[in-house]
Amino acid sequence: MTKKILVTRLYPDAGIQLLEKQGFQLTRWEKDRPMTPGELKDVVKSHDALLCTLTDAIDADFLSDSRHLDIVSQYAVGFDNIDVNAATALGIPVGHTPDVLTEATADIAFGLMIAVARKMIFMHKTIAKGEWGFFNPTGHLGLELKGKTLGIVGLGRIGMSVAKRCKAAYDMDILYYNRSANVQAEKTLGAKRVSFEALLANSDIVSAHCALTDQTAGLFNREAFCQMKSSAIFINTARGGIHNEDDLVAALEENRIWGAGLDVTNPEPMRPDHPLLDMENVCILPHIGSATVEARNAMSVLAANNLIEFYNTGNVPHCVNPEVFKKVD
Ligand code: DGY
Repeated sequence: MTKKILVTRLYPDAGIQLLEKQGFQLTRWEKDRPMTPGELKDVVKSHDALLCTLTDAIDADFLSDSRHLDIVSQYAVGFDNIDVNAATALGIPVGHTPDVLTEATADIAFGLMIAVARKMIFMHKTIAKGEWGFFNPTGHLGLELKGKTLGIVGLGRIGMSVAKRCKAAYDMDILYYNRSANVQAEKTLGAKRVSFEALLANSDIVSAHCALTDQTAGLFNREAFCQMKSSAIFINTARGGIHNEDDLVAALEENRIWGAGLDVTNPEPMRPDHPLLDMENVCILPHIGSATVEARNAMSVLAANNLIEFYNTGNVPHCVNPEVFKKVD
């Protein structure tokens, strides 16, 4: 029987065409906004599989209502919008799209460091307001990145790519805080694994690359910002839930840290009158880490392949809960 897949956003054609070629019947949500939880619950009822992304709440309540689903395929590497334990308990495999967005996201973290260190976005805005003025010998001073210390929280694929950029471009020393040692980073970049506290105290740039979990939610709070150098820059391209945004505003206002670059905010979208948007040493982007033609096409192909392989072979190539396939004797 033809399998019916609910496609929750207008994902790039590359993956959608693969699914169509395989003869799946697709229902595409064409509105320029995610489905509400109610709409999602309702529409998914008549489908066998779900192709979704980080703005879809695939929580325990949704899954319990949608236990008929064969598989959930997430168009993102992160999957904190999905209650994976609940999916596993119901025997529903969850696919995701790792690797293909690593370089695109690392570029955004690296770009944010430079943009913040040299106040680029704020300066751009002053010109637009007619406030260029004259060359100012002592004005608009930023910070140099050469020879500084980078602290990576969560040294996985993206953190590693950021560390490589910082080593190659600025010969930075690399500190990292991770559950396990990253031998490759230690060998090739001279990275040193340290405690969270030591990383905060010794880094000039602290860049978050960990998943949002119960352990990392609100990790960057007032206490953490107070332990950082007053000259430090905080970068978050992972998930907004990792930092406490009010505490970040306070840390910047009280000059406890020097600047911040965010590609993820808490909540998203950020309201247009948010105080961070007017700060000189801050650059905010609207969660565009993976937003390159190459990365987004590759993500759509990976998300489609997770579905195709599942229905053709019973295997999900990029599965976050492979234990669902373990046979119970
Ligand atoms: C991800 O994949 O998790 C990014 O945040 C969005 O592409």
